[in-house]
Amino acid sequence: MKLKKLTVFSAIQPSGKLTIGNYISVLKHWKKMQNEYKCIFCIADLHSLTSFTKENRILKKKSVLDTLALYLACGVDPKKSIIFIQSSVHEHSELNWILSCITYYKELSRMTQFKSKLTYTSKKINTGLFNYPILMASDILLYNTDKVHVGQDQKQHVELTRNLAIRFNSNYKKIFTVPDLLMYDLGSKIMSLKDPKRKMSKSDLNKKNVIFLLENPKEILKKIKSSITDSDIPPKIYFDSIKKPGISNLLIILSTLTEISIKELEKYFIGKSYIDLKKEVFNILNIHILKIQKKFFIYRKDIQFLKNISNIGSKKASKIAKKTLCQVYDSLGILRK
Ligand code: TYM
Repeated sequence: MKLKKLTVFSAIQPSGKLTIGNYISVLKHWKKMQNEYKCIFCIADLHSLTSFTKENRILKKKSVLDTLALYLACGVDPKKSIIFIQSSVHEHSELNWILSCITYYKELSRMTQFKSKLTYTSKKINTGLFNYPILMASDILLYNTDKVHVGQDQKQHVELTRNLAIRFNSNYKKIFTVPDLLMYDLGSKIMSLKDPKRKMSKSDLNKKNVIFLLENPKEILKKIKSSITDSDIPPKIYFDSIKKPGISNLLIILSTLTEISIKELEKYFIGKSYIDLKKEVFNILNIHILKIQKKFFIYRKDIQFLKNISNIGSKKASKIAKKTLCQVYDSLGILRK
């Protein structure tokens, strides 16, 4: 008897460069995941329009190709998984409108990511940023997704997706699979290096807070050396995200990349200094990053190869998305040619 593989959906916005937060919580797991699940990995370029400016128009194309090459460099295999660019499957935007008609304003107003953007951004906030979780729900629901793989900041958006699927199914017709959250306990929220009470974010204006996957090792070493720890005397290395957020963040990075448990690391670091911890964090990061970068530059050179992969992926994704959207239109009584 052959059981059908469950479908996992995940996506990353190609805005700016990907960080070790993206890597540790999602990207790093995809290579293995492909053997167990039917995986669909999307590059969410429409989502990144929420931070669109005329100046970054050219950069957008580059970022999409960079992101695709990074997926491959991290072990995503186009023979095993579907890799595609969100904007190349128009059904996402269409379902987005339909779902927005069953989403309540109050529901969206509760989204913490939007609320924190409101607090931190001085610029005018566009409604794309407000509606963004509906587009994310559309991405997920078009593919009969069983599990959505994300980091902690996207958890609330997955809950909204579940609610929308349940609401649509009960109001119209049972079309959508109600997806479960797939989130790893450790590493689902990597914190900023200099402000470890906040999430590490690729859009952080202070680049000393963030380590990028394509960054040069010298720069990474400097950033790790200057990351915030605490002033305990003598230094104590143990996990406590409230009392010791900086040390805990470094322990999480080390633990997820070495696959050594936090408990074992705590034992190893008894009597050692914060510099010792930072050295170990740099060493393991350097191993991962150099491996990724080596492959990245090979894939990135071959633009035609990358375009072929995304074309093949888009065709496969479109086929599934089209079928779901037809069912949705039918259930709404919308006649189409
Ligand atoms: P994005 O591009 O901000 O981040 C991609 C993934 O990385 C996770 N992540 C982190 N995890 C741990 N620590 C961090 N500091 C950190 N920063 C980011 C995010 O939780 C995310 O899983 N809306 C999504 C992209 C998206 C999507 C989807 C995801 C669009 N459609 C459908 C899943 C399913 C976003 O902006 O992620």
